[in-house]
Amino acid sequence: MRIMKGRALRATATAAMLAVFGAPVAAVELFYVSGAVGNAVENFKALVKPWEEATGNTVTLVPMPASTTDQFGQYRLWLAAGASDIDLYQTDVIWAPQLADHFVDLTEAAKDLAPTHFPSIIESQTVNGKLVALPIFTDAPALYYRKDLLEKHGKTPPKTWAELAETAKLIQDAERAAGNPDMWGFVWQGNAYEGLTCNALEWVKSHGGGQIVEPDGTISINNENAVAALEAAASWVGTISPEGVLAYQEEESRGVWQTGNAVFMRNWPYAYTLGNGDDSAVKGLFGVTTLPVGGEGNTSAATLGGWNVAVSKYSTKQEAAISLALYLAGPEAQKQRAINESNLPTIISLYDDPEIAAAQPIIPQWKDVFLNAVPRPSAPTLGKYNEVSAKFWSAVHSTLSGNGTAAENLELLEAELTEIKGSGW
Ligand code: GLC
Repeated sequence: MRIMKGRALRATATAAMLAVFGAPVAAVELFYVSGAVGNAVENFKALVKPWEEATGNTVTLVPMPASTTDQFGQYRLWLAAGASDIDLYQTDVIWAPQLADHFVDLTEAAKDLAPTHFPSIIESQTVNGKLVALPIFTDAPALYYRKDLLEKHGKTPPKTWAELAETAKLIQDAERAAGNPDMWGFVWQGNAYEGLTCNALEWVKSHGGGQIVEPDGTISINNENAVAALEAAASWVGTISPEGVLAYQEEESRGVWQTGNAVFMRNWPYAYTLGNGDDSAVKGLFGVTTLPVGGEGNTSAATLGGWNVAVSKYSTKQEAAISLALYLAGPEAQKQRAINESNLPTIISLYDDPEIAAAQPIIPQWKDVFLNAVPRPSAPTLGKYNEVSAKFWSAVHSTLSGNGTAAENLELLEAELTEIKGSGW
């Protein structure tokens, strides 16, 4: 076999991409908005380069704040105003029902690509038969643990939240006494935003307390198991987790973790490759496992996350935008994202890709975790999900901050959700 090098290889790749994405008519510049954590902004340039070369078009990333809640607020304003200067939106898995009317139906364009993705993920982006966005990666969090510290102190990764708290305290105190006053037991996302909804849903569900609003629309959050879950979490603040955790999002927890100052961290898979980076104090020193359970008979719960790409109905460059969406949701871009950013692919066959497995062992290891992940109640609550989630994270944040007990706050929350629901979601 002749080995192609340099220009020949590029020309062949370009020809193949043109066959897929069509010859450029007149080059356009597309604007793509996306929130960014980790290295996403730097990596985006390299990610879209093959598509830019193949089509002659260019893509400009418009970076947004890291918080999905802040992004949602901004996107809703732009879309409501019919803003035509943004062509593509990177969308959270929970947004499809709320933003569906503003996006182009991608069913026809993705008719060959969509069947290569996990059907449940395509389903999550389908609203009344309209494919609102194409999945670019899925998400399910891990419990990150310091292998070296657990070994040193004769401990194993915890199976229950109580065991986590105990191990975290023991190692934190011992490491502080041994000369690291900055050591903490457990870091997570306690800020009042969507990330707290994800964390708290995991505590509640893994204590047998349901999923806030059940798939049939029933409001279930006011129950004893949910109370026990929130009480446990409130007891961590100021003991194994810094008070500041109440303002942490993903990147703040990763900051503490990556400087070597936490025994455990709850975070999404993107933190895996960054934690193993050359600038990380914990490079090679950590493992990942599933989140703990409340007790005997409960199962671990990971909230289902994930990101998609949607084409704005108000874009004046829809043809090029759809081509870019297909590329970003396709196998080449997903593979690159998996290898460089440890993002979980949504294309089934990539879980058997040896290069991905070698670069990011968490990916094949995490397939079953995300397939069993717990969805937030965005499907049953339809256009009201954001309000429901905001009420939930506020009730949780109050409880964690000592404003009212878990029982009081959940009782109030039930009344608020009942009012939002009215005669139906
Ligand atoms: C991750 C998830 C996303 C979730 C967010 C919360 O980005 O993929 O679904 O809403 O975290 O902070």
